[in-house]
Amino acid sequence: MTGYGVATAAFQIEGGYDEDGRGLSTWDEFCTRPGAIRDGSDARVACDSYHRFDEDLALLVDLGVDAYRFSIAWPRIQPTGVGETNPKGLDYYERIVDALLAKGIRPFPTLYHWDLPLALERAGGWPVRDTAVRFADYAGLVSERLGDRISTWATMNEPWCTAMLGYAAGVFAPGRREPAEAYNAVHHLLLGHALAAEALAGKDVGIVLNLTTVRTEPDGDPHAADVVDAWQNRVWLDALADGCYPGVLGKPAALQDGDLARIQGSAAWLGINYYTPFRIGPATAASDAVGQDVDAFPGAPPFAFAPRPPLTTMGWEVDPQGLVDVLRATTRRLPGVPLRVTENGGAFEDDDERIAYFEGHLAAMRTSGVEVTDYFAWSLMDNFEWAQGYTQRFGLAAVEPQTLRRVPRGSFRWYQAYLAGRR
Ligand code: FCB
Repeated sequence: MTGYGVATAAFQIEGGYDEDGRGLSTWDEFCTRPGAIRDGSDARVACDSYHRFDEDLALLVDLGVDAYRFSIAWPRIQPTGVGETNPKGLDYYERIVDALLAKGIRPFPTLYHWDLPLALERAGGWPVRDTAVRFADYAGLVSERLGDRISTWATMNEPWCTAMLGYAAGVFAPGRREPAEAYNAVHHLLLGHALAAEALAGKDVGIVLNLTTVRTEPDGDPHAADVVDAWQNRVWLDALADGCYPGVLGKPAALQDGDLARIQGSAAWLGINYYTPFRIGPATAASDAVGQDVDAFPGAPPFAFAPRPPLTTMGWEVDPQGLVDVLRATTRRLPGVPLRVTENGGAFEDDDERIAYFEGHLAAMRTSGVEVTDYFAWSLMDNFEWAQGYTQRFGLAAVEPQTLRRVPRGSFRWYQAYLAGRR
């Protein structure tokens, strides 16, 4: 284990949505659609980290983290996703990187955490091949400025969410319900990752996936579980490990000769975001677990998700053993590829439950027998939880709604003590 940290994402914390030349993203547009965001909110201000990074930095120092996982907003760097860089956007991230380094905290950036420049979506979005090419250009531009100070890069965060919640289920930006195009999006996200890794040649480049273990209830349909596992886990791992797609899904229409050869082996390390297992029940089971949307799994026979208590306020089952299972399965699938836990955490109203969640998952990780390179708790502070708006509290620190003051919780103190004890 080389480090412990916390994770955030640009759109969820930054605000400053129209400042210093930032372009709009698909999420800015999605937030304006009636009913898209549970509390009708948006992320124009969010935690205002665009103006309050110093406060965030003070929290990170107080917490005692080794590393900080944050994301870079593509629309700040290239407002329309193409062409010249916006110097003020790069300046913002350079300031973050330098401030972290000055405090001995390793900056760990993700290049894409779902905020696609809106202009690229208007030109077709991830179902279109050009978006992958544009992404690699953007990666190269960021690396030109920051590459001398960044040791490890993540390209994409949870491309499954972009592809399947964004283009199949339509519950995330850009809100399209076009399952065939979703598979093309999967392919172009993977291709974009691979092209970006080529653009960052010589660097340590990985991808972050939300892999999970799929459990079938006694009355659940194993074929449904197989299709869920294929979209959630195998479509990514098969492409990265073996340069193929799962037979049960067929091939994306957008696949071209040579693409899979570029994707195969393109992850020098793999990030796993683990929150909850998936439990497959009969179609009559009723669950409103966030993101566990049957429409995100095209081709599956009728089924429903059936999470078992204890549940977080996202409706997600708490199961540390799931993390063990995912780590073991992934290391078997990608032997020799370093694994990081790039996100892990729970949304709770009761902070003691949050502490118990972290305690349970950190203990499980240690006993898994799998070597994990870094662990990042989600999240530094409460933030804009996508389609859930501000209704979910994942933060080690709360953020006061009116003042945006960061207020460390007991879980913050708990993680601080955990990190101090380790040294
Ligand atoms: C993950 C996302 C992250 C956050 C957590 C709760 O899927 O990567 O941005 O929303 O879930």
